[in-house]
Amino acid sequence: MKYTANPRVSIIKWATATGVAALMSVSSAAAQESVEVMHWWTSGGEANALNVLKEALESDGIAWEDAAVAGGSGTNALQVLQARVAAGDPPAAMQMHGQQVIEYRDAGLLGDLNELAAAENWDAVMSPDLQNYAKRDGTYVAVPFNMHRHNWMWASKEILDNYGGEMPDTWDAWFEVADEMKADGVLPLAHGGQAWQEFMLWEDIAVGLYGPDFHTRAFVGLDKTTLTSDEMKNVFETFRKVLSYADPNASNRDWNLATAMVIEDQAAFHFMGDWAKGEFIVAEKEADTDYVCAPAPGTDGTFIYLADYWGFFSVRDEEARKAQTEMARMTMDPAVQTEFNIRKGSIPARMDIDAAAFDVCGAAAISDRAEATEQGTMLPSLAQNHAQPREVRGVFEDAITAFANDTSISADDAVQRIVDGLASL
Ligand code: GAL
Repeated sequence: MKYTANPRVSIIKWATATGVAALMSVSSAAAQESVEVMHWWTSGGEANALNVLKEALESDGIAWEDAAVAGGSGTNALQVLQARVAAGDPPAAMQMHGQQVIEYRDAGLLGDLNELAAAENWDAVMSPDLQNYAKRDGTYVAVPFNMHRHNWMWASKEILDNYGGEMPDTWDAWFEVADEMKADGVLPLAHGGQAWQEFMLWEDIAVGLYGPDFHTRAFVGLDKTTLTSDEMKNVFETFRKVLSYADPNASNRDWNLATAMVIEDQAAFHFMGDWAKGEFIVAEKEADTDYVCAPAPGTDGTFIYLADYWGFFSVRDEEARKAQTEMARMTMDPAVQTEFNIRKGSIPARMDIDAAAFDVCGAAAISDRAEATEQGTMLPSLAQNHAQPREVRGVFEDAITAFANDTSISADDAVQRIVDGLASL
C-alpha cells in the first residue's frame, strides 16, 4: 500500500485546549506534537483497521495520542466525549456517527473542511448518503472512514452445511432451520444481550418483515399510524421469538464475543454489522470457506447504512488546524480507504474504489450499495445513530430493552412506550 504524503505538513504542533478557547471556556495549554484521537475501536478487528490510519499519520509526521474508550457502538465513548466537551477539553478528533456530527456541528463546535474538500473533490467521490451528514449547509464538518452495513447475518459454514447449506432469506425460513438445530442441541443464535445490539436486531427484523417503506415511515418519518400498527407489534413479537434461540449466558455479552461463537462454530448465526467481519479476518477465517455472509432475512435489496466519521473540534492554532486537515485528507486517501475498510469489514466511503480488492462479502456490499442507491432502498440506521437524533433514538432503545428483558411487557406496552416517549420530548 502506498500513502500519499502531504508536503505542506512537516513538523506538526498540536495545541488542543488553546485552540478551542474561542468556543469553550478553556485556558491556554502547552503545545504538543501529537493529535489526540478518541474512539471506541478496541476489539481485535477494530484495532487492526485503525492501525492503517495510525501508521499512515505517523509516517507523515503526526504522532497519534490514543484515547480509546472501550464499549461497542460507542455507548461509553460518546458519554466521555460529552463530559470532555462540557469541560471545554474536547479531543482533537473524535469518532462519531452521523447524528453526532450533526449535533456537534449545530452546537458550532466543528471546524470547516471546505478548502480540503474542494481540493480533493469530495463532492464527486464521497457517497451522497454520507455527504448528508459530513456536509451541512454547504460546509464539510466531518470526514467518513467507511460505510458499514447494519443488516448482515453471519453463519458458521460448518454448521450451516449440516443443515442444507442455504442462508435463510425470510424469517419463517430462519425459524424453520433454527428449530431443527435446536432439536439437535445446536445453538442457533450467537447473541450479545446489550441494549444497542438488541436494537440492531430489532431493526433488522422490522425491515426483514415489512420492508424499506415501513422503515422510512416509522423510523425516519416517525409516523404514528405505522408506529402503532399491528405490523409494529408483530416486529416486537418476532423479536422476542428470535431472542429465545440464544443461550442463557447472552445477557450483556460483548458483540465480539458473540462473533467469536460463530468463528469457533459454537453457534450457527449472528446478526451484526459488518465490523463482525474484522473479527473473522484477525482469526484468519475466510468468507465462503469458514463462514458465510448474507443480508439478514428479508432484507435482500435493502442496505441499512451507517458510517464512522472524524469530527474535528474547531481550533484557532494554525499548526493544530493543519494537523486536523492532514488527518482528514489521509482518511479519504484511496489507499487508506481501501486497506482500512478491508480490515474493518466495511466498504469505502468513497464511491470510486475498485471492489476487486475486497472479499466476497465486501464486493457484495459494494454492488448492493450501488443497487440500493438506484432503487431508493438505502436506509439510515436508527439503532446506529443515523436516522434520528440521540433523544429520539433513546426512546426506541429504552422500549426495546425493557421489552427484551421483561416478558411481562407486551408488544402493545412496548409500542405505547415509544409513543409516550416521543410525545414527552
Ligand atoms: C459501531 C461502529 C463500528 C463498530 C461497532 C462496534 O457503532 O460504527 O465501527 O466499531 O460500533 O463497536
